Amino acid sequence: MNAPRIFPLNAWYIAAWSYEIGKREPLARTVCNNKMVLWRKADGSLAVLEDACWHRLLPLSMGWLEGETLVCRYHGLGFDGKGQCTRMPSQDNLNPAAKVRSYPALDRHRYVWVWPGDPALADPALVPDMHWNDDPEWAGDGKTLFAKCDYRLFVDNLMDLTHESFVHITSIGSKHVAETPMTTTHAGRTVTSTRWMLDIDAPPFWRAQLGRPGNVDRWQIIRFEAPCTIVLDVGVAPAGTGAPTGDRSQGVNGRVLNSITPETDTTCMYFWSMTRNYKLNDQSLTSLLREANANIFLEDLVVVEAQQRYISEHPDAPLRNLNIDAGSMRARKIIDDMIAAETRIAAE
Ligand code: FES
Ligand SMILES: [Fe+2]
Repeated sequence: MNAPRIFPLNAWYIAAWSYEIGKREPLARTVCNNKMVLWRKADGSLAVLEDACWHRLLPLSMGWLEGETLVCRYHGLGFDGKGQCTRMPSQDNLNPAAKVRSYPALDRHRYVWVWPGDPALADPALVPDMHWNDDPEWAGDGKTLFAKCDYRLFVDNLMDLTHESFVHITSIGSKHVAETPMTTTHAGRTVTSTRWMLDIDAPPFWRAQLGRPGNVDRWQIIRFEAPCTIVLDVGVAPAGTGAPTGDRSQGVNGRVLNSITPETDTTCMYFWSMTRNYKLNDQSLTSLLREANANIFLEDLVVVEAQQRYISEHPDAPLRNLNIDAGSMRARKIIDDMIAAETRIAAE
């Protein structure tokens, strides 16, 4: 019996940063156990096909592009951006059935999103909101982490930031995070966990960003959008200047954008970006924050990959829940419900 599926298929997933996909070289990626080959057509639009030649299943990503045609490296069959075979060098007649699967894809917020499920359901309005990545009011940049773990371990990690006080104790950790309870709400496919730390000493990172002394009001508002996108609204403002009631004008605000695409059951691609709404033209700050964040996420990587190793060796061992897991429990429930709904429809 196959293990139960751990990700919904009818959803948009990030397959790459937009800049990674060009017109000259096809790129191979795996999304939800679907092997894909991605490239751009002459007009810049995306082509995403199953990464297996119709003929003998060689990965098409091993081939090359000739204009609008992806040529298989083995016997030279050529495919257009919709997956239709347009060239069979060793035969006079094209077999019209020669077609490989194509996937809906689009560029949004500096990422390439693909839809591994039913193409008829691929509504662009369902792409999670990550507009801070290309909004002129915000600046920032990020990277991709290829991780050997179930993508949901990163969802758990991000939905509970009390881990900052331990995993990141030497970088961004502060005891206030673990000591301050959060409130969690949910609606539809989203979960929001909110934590306000009022009138506290600012941690060094935020002290430097704010650039002034004195206690601060600090916030962490975590928003999960199923199946795997989490936006952290984080920042500080001088204590008592009204941030908790909506006036953040004295403070500094960041959005940490995270989307964790499952490749397989035990590997994932974690796309993240660190954006801010201050010092927008300071490119060196953009680089500094990106690299600092990259190092912080490596601390998370060590933890989640170690969890995965144990889980793989002990698949029946339970994950237990504490109060701090309210957000991740709800997120996992939404994911499970999406998978169950897809499974029901498929069985009907
Ligand atoms: S395997 Fe691709 S052309 Fe034969
Ligand atoms: Fe972390």
